[in-house]
Amino acid sequence: MHTVTTYNGIDIPAFMYGTAWKKDATAQLVQLAVTSGFTAIDTANQLIHYQEALVGEALLALAEQGIPRNSLFLQTKFTPVNGQDHRTPYDPVAPVSSQVKQSFESSLEHLHTDYLDSFVLHGPYSRYGLGKDDWEVWTTMEELCNSGRTKMIGISNVSASQLTELCDKATIKPMIVQNRCYAAMAWDKEVRENCQTHGIIYQGFSLLTANQEVWRSSEVLDLAKQYSTGSIQIIFRYAQQIGMLPLTGTGNKQHMKEDLDIQHFSLTPDQISMIELLAV
Ligand SMILES: NC(=O)c1ccc[n+]([C@@H]2O[C@H](COP(=O)([O-])OP(=O)(O)OC[C@H]3O[C@@H](n4cnc5c(N)ncnc54)[C@H](OP(=O)(O)O)[C@@H]3O)[C@@H](O)[C@H]2O)c1
Repeated sequence: MHTVTTYNGIDIPAFMYGTAWKKDATAQLVQLAVTSGFTAIDTANQLIHYQEALVGEALLALAEQGIPRNSLFLQTKFTPVNGQDHRTPYDPVAPVSSQVKQSFESSLEHLHTDYLDSFVLHGPYSRYGLGKDDWEVWTTMEELCNSGRTKMIGISNVSASQLTELCDKATIKPMIVQNRCYAAMAWDKEVRENCQTHGIIYQGFSLLTANQEVWRSSEVLDLAKQYSTGSIQIIFRYAQQIGMLPLTGTGNKQHMKEDLDIQHFSLTPDQISMIELLAV
């Protein structure tokens, strides 16, 4: 799979497999995704939505089949207490920096590895601005990045103004941003432009689930016909061509193949502009 390169020189596979909401099927689906061709896995140390330990089980099984951990890109997240239930992977009353370190160590244990490729703050503590806890988390993540135990750090569910504040004041700017991507907001254009300014890789999720009216539209169906592909493939290819790194979480073997099979066509600049404004 082709890769995109972060500003600190790390290659990330250009399509990522997401492991949310897979529950007990997580291990089996991660194995299927990797044997189907995905080489980047996204998870989180947050039992409400993810089974990180089952991702780790899949990694052990894949290693036995000759696919070692270092051939894969592993990304996981620190989820603050307000995004967790009672099953926090850290002491919820410990100082925030200890929570981050405990969560990180627990992720390494779950994933049977001694380093991460990418460690992400699941979301700022508040929707507006960055507070003391956000900065304590970020400083701790910077330390982990400086130590080499994670190759990069990133932030998710972030607004354009929060990202500007982070980039202005952080010692290490995020290498990646992971956001829900609504076509109605020109596919999160403000945050994407912000990422471009700072050389940050933008990862988009909910490209399909948040934009059903777009991939079902006659305009996108016509493009699918023109390129002898599906309308979902048009959306993923569009995402890659505008510099986005898409995520998919499909649980279907055929869909995995289809989602990966998007390199054989390229949309024209006019078609890209048309899709960008389709729902605005
Ligand atoms: N940072 C965050 O807060 C956050 C939040 C949400 C998600 N995420 C990450 O993003 C990942 C992806 O989440 P998502 O919301 O984008 O996707 P998702 O929940 O996996 O939804 C994708 C949907 O698209 C369908 N689909 C995919 N390929 C298809 C194809 N070729 N044909 C027909 N249907 C297809 C899937 O159905 P089938 O299963 O039937 O294919 C599924 O219903 C998650 O697993 C997680 O890792 C992060």
